[in-house]
Amino acid sequence: MLKKYAVTLILFITFWSGSHAGTFKVAIASAHPLATDAGLEIIRKGGNVFDAAVAVSAALAVVEPTGSGLGGGGYWLLHREIDALDTLIDGREKAPLAAHKAMFLDKKGNAVPNLSLDGALAAAIPGLPAALVHLSEKYGRLPLSESLRPAIRYAQNGFAVGNKYLKLLKFRAEVLKKYPQTAKIFFTDGEFPKAYSILRQADLANTLNRLAIAGRAGFYNGDIADKLVNTVRKAGGIWTQEDLDNYQIVERKPVTGDYHGIKITSAAPSSSGGIVLIEALNILSDYDLQHADAITQKHLITEAMRRAYHDRALYLGDSDFIDIPVKRLLSKDYAAGLRSSIRSDKTLPSALLSGDDLPQPEGTHTTHFSIIDDTGNRVAATLSINFPFGSGFVAEGTGVLLNDEMDDFVSHKGANGYGLVGGTANAIVPGKRMLSSMTPTFLEDGPRIAVLGTPGGSRIISMVLLAALDFAQGNTPESWVNLPRFHHQFMPDVLEYEQNALTDAELAGLVARGHQTQEARYRYGDMQAAMLDKTTHTLSAASDRRGEGRAVVGGLE
Ligand code: DON
Repeated sequence: MLKKYAVTLILFITFWSGSHAGTFKVAIASAHPLATDAGLEIIRKGGNVFDAAVAVSAALAVVEPTGSGLGGGGYWLLHREIDALDTLIDGREKAPLAAHKAMFLDKKGNAVPNLSLDGALAAAIPGLPAALVHLSEKYGRLPLSESLRPAIRYAQNGFAVGNKYLKLLKFRAEVLKKYPQTAKIFFTDGEFPKAYSILRQADLANTLNRLAIAGRAGFYNGDIADKLVNTVRKAGGIWTQEDLDNYQIVERKPVTGDYHGIKITSAAPSSSGGIVLIEALNILSDYDLQHADAITQKHLITEAMRRAYHDRALYLGDSDFIDIPVKRLLSKDYAAGLRSSIRSDKTLPSALLSGDDLPQPEGTHTTHFSIIDDTGNRVAATLSINFPFGSGFVAEGTGVLLNDEMDDFVSHKGANGYGLVGGTANAIVPGKRMLSSMTPTFLEDGPRIAVLGTPGGSRIISMVLLAALDFAQGNTPESWVNLPRFHHQFMPDVLEYEQNALTDAELAGLVARGHQTQEARYRYGDMQAAMLDKTTHTLSAASDRRGEGRAVVGGLE
């Protein structure tokens, strides 16, 4: 416990006092100590925060294979101080060109269990390698080969697997063992590895090397591409070389909002994160939450979540394929309309919200890191292969574990792996990006600039919302990342809460207002946050105590 506190302790460092020419400090928080170290290493080699982001992303792909990787995708929200540029690199996976609406259904039109979650058909075309190349070439100072070096070293020399890895390996063991090439990497002679035994990934080191030497072509063309396409097709998948040739990242304008003078900058579609976050904050902006009693406060936050997630299900998908009423969803007047349907004494059941296009529901892994330097350059990145160990399918000879992000589309009448429902806005179309909940975010109130985000599937947005409200109270990164959490996502119509997140009196009060409540089976999220306070010239960072990450402040003295 003590060690955990030491790891997550906010580290403060004061600078700018007098002349500090030549010093360069950053705050980094990531889900794995070795990934945080990789970022610092690159800063000390003369890299900027964008080079560090490449290094951390690539390191996470090696040391946290449960959460993200070259076989997946993600979102990198960037701010460059020199020209005040805010941009979002959308490196989300895309549906293969042979994908179609019924690909996960049987002849009767019923969903084939787990087909969109396990194995080669569940995998969409990866975006992470293309995004790293772009991030390095357009925004970095160092060559890609330099920024990838720590990751290649970790893959070659190995790293000690921790408890989180072992827990998630057990969770996905049945699927991983179906694929000998996967089992060979993550198990020890077919057995669960011992805690802290060394995991080496020689093929992955080779693939990273190809990327380092040849850039984009090292992954999307040639030997690695052949292996990806061939093994996927042999296993019932539908990838082609054309899919790999066609994959492009997109730079998008982030969505922005304002909550009580705090500027929010967050992910635009293909992620729902920014819009849902800002819509919920807009709904809440007219309440005096600080002075409301705890039950009313949680009731109102839940009602805002319900309405914003409802709009997610109705309107959101890949904006390259559908028209999204972004202006309306982000407008304060629209939020006021939604607010007028909120009663303080009673919940509105989700079934009473409109939505003809929505099927009824039938019935966690990803990663985040945050970096900010002492002048305000920053990156918030949330990266994913979807479920723990993605689809469980490694493309033979590449070490690349493929995502199961196809499950984030609406492909059948039921809910997806996170209980989310949706309609045609998020239907499968060849080349389309599946709707995400990833919410890499900046918050600025003048003196304080925060960088934050978390994994957690559908709960990502509600976690960032609670953190933003805590930021608004003037609390620290350590506080935001460790907040007790509760969540409502419209459907299922349940207010879910972590153990001890609500007191008995709060629970009774919320039930009396009509909420159906349910304790979550486990604590969720792994929030990573960093902050620059321009008034006190202080950098700080914090890593969620639920995870095994590391937050540091360091750099060049
Ligand atoms: O993009 C999304 O919304 C999901 N694929 C994220 C999955 C996730 O966060 C899993 N983490 N526990």
